[in-house]
Amino acid sequence: MSSLVKEKIFEFAKEICNQRNHESELGFWIFHPDLTLDAINHFKAALPNVKLYYAVKCNPNPYLVKFVTDNGGDGFDCASLNEIKEVIKLGMSPEKITYSQIAKTSYEILEAYKLGVRLTLVDSNEEVDKLSKLKNQIPDLKIMLRIQSNDPTADYSLGGRFGLEEDEIDDVLNNLYEKKLNMNGIHFHIGSLAHSSNAFRNGLRIAKETIDKAKKLGYNPNIIDIGGGFSHEVSIDHFGKVITDTIHEFNLDDITFLAEPGRYIAGVSFSYVANVIHKHKKKDLIYYTICEGSHGAISCTSIFHRTYDCVPLFPKGGKMYYSVFGGQTCDSHDIVTEKNCEELNVGDWVIYYCLGAYSMSLCTNFNGFESRTRPIFHLPLQDTKETVKLPSDIEKNGIPALWGLPGTWDL
Ligand SMILES: Cc1ncc(COP(=O)(O)O)c(C=O)c1O
Repeated sequence: MSSLVKEKIFEFAKEICNQRNHESELGFWIFHPDLTLDAINHFKAALPNVKLYYAVKCNPNPYLVKFVTDNGGDGFDCASLNEIKEVIKLGMSPEKITYSQIAKTSYEILEAYKLGVRLTLVDSNEEVDKLSKLKNQIPDLKIMLRIQSNDPTADYSLGGRFGLEEDEIDDVLNNLYEKKLNMNGIHFHIGSLAHSSNAFRNGLRIAKETIDKAKKLGYNPNIIDIGGGFSHEVSIDHFGKVITDTIHEFNLDDITFLAEPGRYIAGVSFSYVANVIHKHKKKDLIYYTICEGSHGAISCTSIFHRTYDCVPLFPKGGKMYYSVFGGQTCDSHDIVTEKNCEELNVGDWVIYYCLGAYSMSLCTNFNGFESRTRPIFHLPLQDTKETVKLPSDIEKNGIPALWGLPGTWDL
C-alpha cells in the first residue's frame, strides 16, 4: 500500500475518531473499495487467461461481495450453502459459483444444485459414492478432481488434509468413470500466502497429466481451477508470468482457467481502528489491552500465527517502550501486536492496515464481546465519490451466519 493511500485512510480514521466518544467507543473498520478495485484490475492484468472467482470465506462482508460482483469479479468460490445464498442474493448468477468444498452432505449437494450451482469438486471415493447415489437428481453437475500441489513455503498449508496425492488420482478418476459421473476438470490450492510459484507449475503438470488420462476414458475435461494463495507480499506479476508461461508450455490454451483469490482481493481494502482500554506499565515494557484481539477482529493472528503492526493515530512523540497489545478476552495468548511504540494512554487509538483477510470471517463473540458487529465506514470511490451500495433487501435479509448485522454507516 502506498504511503499516500495510507495517509488517506489515516486521516479518514482520525476524522471518525474525532467525532466519537473516546470513553465508550469500541473499534471500527474502514473499507477502502478503490484498493479492491486495484487488486481486481492488477490480478486480471497479471493473469489474463484466468477467471477471477473471489473466495467468499476470506471476507464475506456483503459490501465487498457486491463490489466484486459489480467490478470485474467473474464468479465466486463458495464453501457453504450460506455463502452460496449470499452471493446469489447479491446478484451473481449461480452458474458463476464453484462449490469448492470437499466435504458436503447429501442435503447440501442437492440444495446447492436446486439453487443453480453446477460446479463442484471431489477428493475421495466416498464423496464420489455419495454423488453417485444422488446422480439422477444432479444430472449436469460438473465435477473437478481436487489434487494436491503444495507450496512448502506458504504461510498456511492446505495440503495433507485436502486433495488427492498423485498416486491416489487414478483410483478416484476410475471410480467417477465406473459410476458414470461427469469429470470436468482439476482443482488445486497451493496454500494460503504462498511464496513460491513452483507449486503452480507442479499443479498444472499434474492437471495436464490427469486431463490426458481422463480423455483416454472418453471424458473431455475443460476446467482447471488454480485456487488462491496470492498476496500483496509476493509479486502477482511473477506468479502470473509463471502460470501463463506454463499454460502455453503444456498446451492448455483451450482450457477454461479459474482462480479463487481471497486474501489478494480482500486483504488490503479493510483497516481496523482500535481503542486502548487498559494499560499496565512494567519496568521495561507496557502491556496494552485494546478493544479487539485474536478472537475478534484481529482473528487472523490465530490461524496465521502472526502478529500485526499497528500505528498510533494521534502520535505525541512520547518515550519508546517495547509494547504488547492484546485483546480483552481472558485468553492470555490473545496477543496481536508486539513492537517498539511510543507510550500510549487509555483512550488512545491505533490503526491496523490491510486486515481484511480471514479477520472478520473468523471473528467470534468469545467472552461475550460482540466483535462481529463492529461498524464499517466506507471511503468513497475515487472516481465517482460514491460509497458502495447494497440492494436494500440485503440490509434487511443478510445472511446472519456470515455477518452478525451489517452495522454499516457512511460518514
Ligand atoms: C478452496 C479454497 N479456495 C480459495 C481459498 C482462498 O485462498 P487465499 O485467500 O489464500 O487466496 C481458500 C482458502 O482457504 C480455499 O480453501
